[in-house]
Amino acid sequence: MRPKLSRRQFVGSAAALSISAIAPRGLLAASSSAQQVVVRPEAEIGLIRPEFHGHFAEHLGSCVYGGLWVGKKSPVPNIDGYRKQAIDYLKELGVPVLRWPGGCFADDYHWRDGIGPVEQRPKRVNIHWGGYVEDGSFGTHEFIGLCRLLGSEPYLAGNVGSGTPHELRDWIEYCNMPSGSTLAEERAKNGSPEPFRVRYWGVGNENWGCGGWMRPEIYANLYRQYSVYIREYGGTRPFLVACGPGGPDRRWTRGFMDTLDGGSPDGLSMHYYEGGADQPTDFTVEHMKEQLSKFAKVEEAIAEQRALLDGYREGRKIGLILDEWGVWDKITEETERRYGKLWQQSTMRSGVAAGLGLNIFNRLADKLHMCNIAQIVNVLQSLLLTEGPEGKACIRATTYYAFALFKPHRSKTAVRVETQDTSPLAVSVSASKREKELVISFVNPRHDADFEIDCTIAGRNLREGKAEILHDADWNACNTFDNPNRVALRTHPVVVEGSKLRMDLPRLSVATVTVQTA
Ligand code: AHR
Repeated sequence: MRPKLSRRQFVGSAAALSISAIAPRGLLAASSSAQQVVVRPEAEIGLIRPEFHGHFAEHLGSCVYGGLWVGKKSPVPNIDGYRKQAIDYLKELGVPVLRWPGGCFADDYHWRDGIGPVEQRPKRVNIHWGGYVEDGSFGTHEFIGLCRLLGSEPYLAGNVGSGTPHELRDWIEYCNMPSGSTLAEERAKNGSPEPFRVRYWGVGNENWGCGGWMRPEIYANLYRQYSVYIREYGGTRPFLVACGPGGPDRRWTRGFMDTLDGGSPDGLSMHYYEGGADQPTDFTVEHMKEQLSKFAKVEEAIAEQRALLDGYREGRKIGLILDEWGVWDKITEETERRYGKLWQQSTMRSGVAAGLGLNIFNRLADKLHMCNIAQIVNVLQSLLLTEGPEGKACIRATTYYAFALFKPHRSKTAVRVETQDTSPLAVSVSASKREKELVISFVNPRHDADFEIDCTIAGRNLREGKAEILHDADWNACNTFDNPNRVALRTHPVVVEGSKLRMDLPRLSVATVTVQTA
């Protein structure tokens, strides 16, 4: 690995200094590991919607119960039943949107089971995720309370697979009707006179699979029927999200769009998981390369789905939503017994995977409406981990830090970037701008190559730059309950001069540079 710059060598404003006087030799020498990057601030792509950094919480394992919600009487420190440490970490990061209650769970969830006095809520079996008895203690009011605490936009997934249009219609009226109707009065009696004003509504989930195993034509007909009964109450216009494809499946989208024939949804939900052949902390190099290479396919699939929708006049208005994404590794029964179903550790590899995904969303900012990683706590590629549902500790996983590195891009305009290598495991870059600030993120997915980044910001003079990095040369490195800060953010040296920015980008790293322009 190349030598790192010392703090003394870090250049805040290098304009007046000769760069050779301050930079280490490795940074200046022409080297085969130098990567040329050009950022073009004038070539705008589109707005980086904060919703690209959205999240998903399902009644699955220890995500909701034990992860987010411990109950008011729990010995785990809590704020009205919500796990305090999780709330603190998530608030710091910012959760722009939160999707709930599933996933597969959504198409077997009946919202009335989760309202009213907790002792009277019926007990149901969670047929998708282990057959445990669900007591409904985390329901609509508890979810909205969580969103209010986090400052997140709520996104409710309705039940199409085993529900009815009537049931979804009533859930929307219950949530959004300000007053006067029986359902609005019931909400008020249950503690919320103020309407919830929920805008995002999913019409089913994975209806090609766990959500009813339908053909696209059948689902499209059902979508048409459901949409007739979904209305605006109290000025909250519902944004309807229809079930889209699993992965790159074009047949589903075409079948849906052809049958729909008008009355199109506001959004189409696509799911794309990047499967892994090994347990999270035991990845072989080959399996890691295989998994990280899948992000190139995700990028391709998003562009293809967008183009497909744009081929329909009505389709151009439909926002493409990557509703579930993330690495899905091999999870042992022993881990699930200990910590909960689909409990998955996040390693340096997962942090790199998150960086690859988030870079894609910036580069495709004009093609996407929202992206929700699966899932927020404990399940799959989560941001936070607890020692199962009862454990007191709650730690930030590598994925949390990768998201933190991309936070400065939110609400900025994505701009074009050119890189010399575009193969699936090449250095991945994205950039955004607002006024005089530019934010550039770099991901090095290689386990065997350190790079020197030589980045030109076309037509701009740079004044000062600062960088942060998430890096560990061991792709299986992770944060544990005994060593919770093994892989965390560090400041990273960057040299800024004229229109150039230079820095080391070690193997397996995600870095974000913020520069001010003259
Ligand atoms: O996130 C876990 C599951 O993956 C969800 O319930 C489902 O939508 C998808 O198959």
